[in-house]
Amino acid sequence: MLDALESAGQQRLADSIRALPREQADALLLQVASIDLPLVERLVRELVREPADAAAGSIGPAEVDRRPADDTSRAHRHQAFEAGEQALREGRVAVVLLAGGQGTRLGFDHPKGMFPIGPVSNASLFEVHAAGMGATRRRYGCDLPFLLMTSDVNDAETRAFFDEHLLFGLQPESVTTFVQGMLPAVDPATGDILREAPDRLALSPDGHGGIFRAMGHAAILGDLEERGIDVIMTFQVDNPLMRPADPEFIGAHLLARAEMSTLVVAKVAPEERMGVMASVDGRTALVEYTDLPAELEAARDEAGDLLYWAGSTGVHCLDRAFATRLATGEAPLPFHRADKRVATVDDPDPQVPNAVKFEAFMFDALPLAARTATVEMAREECFAPVKNADGADSPATCRAAMVDRAARWLEAQGAAVPRGADGASQFPIEIDPRFAQDAADLRGRIPSDFAVDAPLLLRN
Ligand code: UTP
Repeated sequence: MLDALESAGQQRLADSIRALPREQADALLLQVASIDLPLVERLVRELVREPADAAAGSIGPAEVDRRPADDTSRAHRHQAFEAGEQALREGRVAVVLLAGGQGTRLGFDHPKGMFPIGPVSNASLFEVHAAGMGATRRRYGCDLPFLLMTSDVNDAETRAFFDEHLLFGLQPESVTTFVQGMLPAVDPATGDILREAPDRLALSPDGHGGIFRAMGHAAILGDLEERGIDVIMTFQVDNPLMRPADPEFIGAHLLARAEMSTLVVAKVAPEERMGVMASVDGRTALVEYTDLPAELEAARDEAGDLLYWAGSTGVHCLDRAFATRLATGEAPLPFHRADKRVATVDDPDPQVPNAVKFEAFMFDALPLAARTATVEMAREECFAPVKNADGADSPATCRAAMVDRAARWLEAQGAAVPRGADGASQFPIEIDPRFAQDAADLRGRIPSDFAVDAPLLLRN
């Protein structure tokens, strides 16, 4: 193993291991054995020691399947909804919840999915998603596999949490947890692998793009193929408004015969920190907000509308055969470099970025797909992520969006919801996905003279 480290250019780590007491050296060697050294060697060469300037392609606005604005487009979306329902009934869909991230910005001391988000119930993000999965399975009488991607940083606690809650009522055979890969952080000047403690490497998850390799390692895709599944919907753990296995999105993906689809919403402002969909060198791609030139971020068309308005929610549909090509490395994803502060044995409290991390992003699969679909949905119906502890995209904004959506669904059925001067509901309202997954589900389920006059939790 020390030889392998040396031939991968990691002489310094090999020397440190030689100098350590036996037990610590063994612990480190075990971690070294778990990482893909040839990959690390390549990443260090390409992204740290001899970085080439990334060629910026020619960028244009993306083509988007817009939210229905007239009868024709409403009919198209209705058809999509029905196609999605049909695929669900036929058992052709699986759902992956991406939950391997570190949740650094939120600063919650557990897996992000354990964060209590229910405005009335305090239900965790995991419970909200599992409830949506259960409701969808029952509605369509389907065997809807729920694949949970974790990483070494949160796998044990995530599994224990699901076990403790008896999988939130889901059938054990429908839930599969798989673990994504980890990559070491390296020194920006030398490319040397860093240690966070004498006997511990500074490892972190390999990015949500790690999904493909991880599904390949866990032999998940072959299993899905045997079960006749050809659509994999993936979504992110921090967005409780997203309906898992959303029939409209799945149907739009199928009708477009896409290999990969992306669910987008309109950005609230040009400067919102959200990746936007674009056409780069003629292929669908996501451009990160950090990479979008200021003049393009603010660019508008003749009608005054933003050109790069389509923000990605991180929700995708994948054709199973396409995912398999990515998993086998036939079409590998690129890795990106991120300069971060990482506590290390030499620098326990870094004040400036002292490390380079490597991550792959799921959206980098888009330009590799033969066909893509970019599907717009109403933001207030499907997108309110929990990213930060306060301010934008925080638990407070997410709960407010959950309450607001529940209030609108109730009002659509004629209920009275008292609202304050700011337009927000005066009482917290929460609708459990097992009770209703959209406004139409509430039809006939609440009295016509229903009035909200206290905190309200609608659940079965
Ligand atoms: P983010 O990029 O927002 O990262 O992930 P994060 O880990 O939640 O939070 P920060 O950036 O550390 O504050 C978006 C989604 O992708 C998943 C996350 O769990 C989240 O659902 N993800 C991210 C993974 O599954 N694996 C990763 O390596 C990274």
